[in-house]
Amino acid sequence: MDMLGRRRYCPFASHGFLLLILLPSLFLFHHAPVAAGAGAPSSEPQLSSTQEAIMVNISSVVGNSRFNTTSNPCTWSGVTCTRSGSSLVVTNITLSNYGISDSSIFASICRIQTLQSLDLSRNSFTDLSTQFFPPSCSMKEDLRLLNLSTNQLRHPLSNLSGFRQLEVLDLSSNFFTSTNLSADLGSFPKLRSLNLSSNELNGNVPTSMVDSLVELVLSGNQLIGSIPSGLFRYENITLLDLSQNNLTGHVLNEFKSLAKLETVLLSGNKLSGEIPASLSNVATLSRFAANQNNFTGLIPSWITKHVRMLDLSYNNLNGTIPSDFLSHPGLQSVDLTSNQLEGPIPSYLSPSLYRLRLGGNRLRGNISNSICNGTELAYLELDNNQLTGNIPSELGKCSSLSLLSLASNKLNGSMPGTISKLQKLVVLKLQNNSLTGPIPDTFSAHLSILNLSQNSFSGGIPSGIFKLPKLSNLYLQDNKINGAIPISISSSKSLIELNLGDNALDGTIPTMPSTVSTSLLNLSHNFLTGPIPSSINSLSGLEILDLSHNKLSGEVPASLGSLPSLIQLVLSYNNLSGYLPRFGQNVEIDIKGNPDLVNGTGNNNSTSTTGKKNPHTVVIIIFTIAGALVGLCVLAVIVMMSLSKRIYRVEDEGLPAGESVPQIINGCLITMNSIHTSAIEFTKAMEALSNHQNIFLKTRFCTYYKAVMPNGSTYSVKKLNSSDKIFQIGNQEKFSREIEVLGKLTNSNVMVPLAYILTVDSAYLIYEHAYKGTVSDLLHGGKSDVIDWPSRYSIALGVAQGLTFLHGCTQPVLLLDLSTKTIHLKSTNEPQIGDIELYKIIDPSRSTGSFSTIAGTVGYIPPEYAYTMRLTMTGNVYSFGVILLELLTGKPSVSDGIELAKWALSLSARPDQWEQILDTRVSGTSIAVHSQMLSVLNIALACVAFSPDARPKMRNVLRMLFNSK
Ligand SMILES: *[C@@H]1O[C@H](CO)[C@@H](O)[C@H](O)[C@H]1NC(C)=O
Ligand SMILES: *[C@@H]1O[C@H](CO)[C@@H](O)[C@H](O)[C@H]1NC(C)=O
Ligand SMILES: *[C@@H]1O[C@H](CO)[C@@H](O)[C@H](O)[C@H]1NC(C)=O
Ligand SMILES: *[C@@H]1O[C@H](CO)[C@@H](O)[C@H](O)[C@H]1NC(C)=O
Repeated sequence: MDMLGRRRYCPFASHGFLLLILLPSLFLFHHAPVAAGAGAPSSEPQLSSTQEAIMVNISSVVGNSRFNTTSNPCTWSGVTCTRSGSSLVVTNITLSNYGISDSSIFASICRIQTLQSLDLSRNSFTDLSTQFFPPSCSMKEDLRLLNLSTNQLRHPLSNLSGFRQLEVLDLSSNFFTSTNLSADLGSFPKLRSLNLSSNELNGNVPTSMVDSLVELVLSGNQLIGSIPSGLFRYENITLLDLSQNNLTGHVLNEFKSLAKLETVLLSGNKLSGEIPASLSNVATLSRFAANQNNFTGLIPSWITKHVRMLDLSYNNLNGTIPSDFLSHPGLQSVDLTSNQLEGPIPSYLSPSLYRLRLGGNRLRGNISNSICNGTELAYLELDNNQLTGNIPSELGKCSSLSLLSLASNKLNGSMPGTISKLQKLVVLKLQNNSLTGPIPDTFSAHLSILNLSQNSFSGGIPSGIFKLPKLSNLYLQDNKINGAIPISISSSKSLIELNLGDNALDGTIPTMPSTVSTSLLNLSHNFLTGPIPSSINSLSGLEILDLSHNKLSGEVPASLGSLPSLIQLVLSYNNLSGYLPRFGQNVEIDIKGNPDLVNGTGNNNSTSTTGKKNPHTVVIIIFTIAGALVGLCVLAVIVMMSLSKRIYRVEDEGLPAGESVPQIINGCLITMNSIHTSAIEFTKAMEALSNHQNIFLKTRFCTYYKAVMPNGSTYSVKKLNSSDKIFQIGNQEKFSREIEVLGKLTNSNVMVPLAYILTVDSAYLIYEHAYKGTVSDLLHGGKSDVIDWPSRYSIALGVAQGLTFLHGCTQPVLLLDLSTKTIHLKSTNEPQIGDIELYKIIDPSRSTGSFSTIAGTVGYIPPEYAYTMRLTMTGNVYSFGVILLELLTGKPSVSDGIELAKWALSLSARPDQWEQILDTRVSGTSIAVHSQMLSVLNIALACVAFSPDARPKMRNVLRMLFNSK
């Protein structure tokens, strides 16, 4: 991809380079005597003056504020010196996540012959050409470890050769290419660990590395062909990761020769045939993932004897699950979702198994009542099978369960009270079975989602259900529930969706809760009587209200007309009377079957609804609305396409040969702002992508490009790295729908998409371009100026405002990846939260790693994500707390392998140590600043509390931040 053949060097960069050579020497004259002498006894070994000069050079590139340039460079954080004879030499340099982009640093580093370890990962380098990194670079001679991962380097791999001693090479998450991978990798005679994941490598899996290789990571490239037999020569290999490529064919059955393998990841390819049986000979294998391939044949019965983490989901495996398959000691996680497995579920589970997913198979028989004997299971999915019989009350012994899904089976009998009493249960899904009997009265205080719909539950709704403090989604529709709706509903705190449709409920509708976030209320197809309570107007987030097919009478309360979020109102087939109040233009209303109800106030869009609509299935309604939106968009696309085709032809001639602009298959303007609608040109946006020079930011899931429109205005185009199979862009309608909802948000601290474009294999979002770096760049970018407290405080406030807004939306918007790297700056004190769409379009269950590896950036991930498997607002609060700590300390979220939050929490145990947490460069500026920083530290520590329950809600965080002014 980067074979543009016209790489340009910015003239300013070369000036900068000269300047940097001159400046440090000035510096040196000032400080060298202090640094070398400074009170140290003369017997102490010293750095040679040559290396000292080089280090001062380096510090000026990194930004002098990072290092105390008046002290000995060997004391700088990230620099390690070792005694060599009578003097010290620099051996290790670690400058990770410093936001450095100036490649002239390489020219200095190259002169450190004694260097053994160089870690410049997570910076913004784009240039590693011979100008900065000459073939004669003497640092190459002794270097053992080179880590340049997560930069923006776009070079042929062949640029990196001549490292005769290199043992560890990590170039992951860049844009490296290779025309001959085997030739390029043959030139590292000592290599033990190689990580080239997430680059742009193509061709076959190479086998030219040195025989002693121990770790090989090539995931996330475009490698093709089958897994070569030459790979089975690496007898000492422990880690083999070939996932997320385009590999095909059968996997050779030769794993016997790789007797030290610990981790094998083949996920997300097109591999076929059987899972190779020779893996059974590898006693050290502890993790095996081959999900999302086309593997066939029987499920390998032997594999769980050794393997602790197994993922074979989304293949075509068949046969039965052997009875001892899940019981081997040490087994931790098994995912066999979406295969064609038959027969019963084994009766005994390993004591260490915490995650079992068997959904989407053809499993039959009963759920064994011994399945929970002595297990720590936290996550159990058996949905979409053909399981029969009762739910055993012994499931209540799985006391650690946080998610239980038995949905869409053929289970009958009643629901055992032991399940509803499971103390840690957060999600319970039993819908679409044949369950009978009453709904239990008590549930776990953590219960958030309860779906019992499409069963035959009878009796009343227990009043305790609405007192559950965290219950957000309650689905009881399509049962035989009778009696009145408990009045306790009025005290419900967190309901988002409530569906009680298709039951036999009677009595009147009680006073409604004042939960602002309730968006769906469906009470249709019951026997409810009396008036519609005017208290419904307190549900200010209500979008869909369906009261149809009841016996409601009286007038429609005028206050319904002022529900700000309402888009759908279904009142058909009741006994309502009087005049229908006036509703907003965009509310779709159905009042048919109410002979005495008069639509006299000009709701011209009412009753025009079709008789075909089935009002009790809200899903259909939602689709109709989405369909209408998509329809609008399609119109816009046709207009845009016909406009842009013309321009496309003209511009096409200007493109370099061999570069092609991705074919737009759908593009849609979401914004109504005419400035943007007239400026944004989809073809122009796509053209910007063909030039790597336009990239200004690359994050874990996205790449941002700058695009100049024909009228001269600039926009940001964000490419979602959709080759990663955790993205669900495949379903374009769903994608469009989600993005359009987000596009309607308005908050100055949130990056809201103006338009989107879909191509055959990717999705792109268009934003206003006001990018002045990320908060991470600002704090850790190596600029010499220390960012003052007022700027830091207004960043904290801005992010808190944006996040409070997102959490308070009718459909709360959660952040999958909230870190200082995903918060953009419009100016030094105006932050904008980016990547708000990720949680909607990423399906963590399709990932090869655990949920916590998907959900966010290391250092920002709340501890509970490791086992809860779901994004939460409290999880976001934790990440926000880490951001506050970064602003307070000036330190990155992880340094020297220690998470900032854990570091701050451990120091905070003693109030006299609080001083040490704060960034003294800032806290020392005034007493007022110091005291404000201490009160913000208090808030930050509350946000990163270990227990999710102990963390404050965002709106309280915001209030506290305001109060600490
Ligand atoms: C920098 O180092 C010198 C010498 O070790 C020391 O006297 C001075 O206090 C340090 N300055 C800062 C800001 O830490
Ligand atoms: C320095 O680098 C060497 C070689 O990679 C490594 O073995 C050693 O642990 C590193 N030392 C420090 C203090 O990081
Ligand atoms: C594998 O490791 C063993 C023990 O360290 C060593 O003797 C052997 O030479 C290694 N094999 C290769 C192919 O390097
Ligand atoms: C994967 O390989 C197939 C043929 O083997 C090719 O048609 C397809 O374009 C490749 N996909 C990618 C993303 O490289």
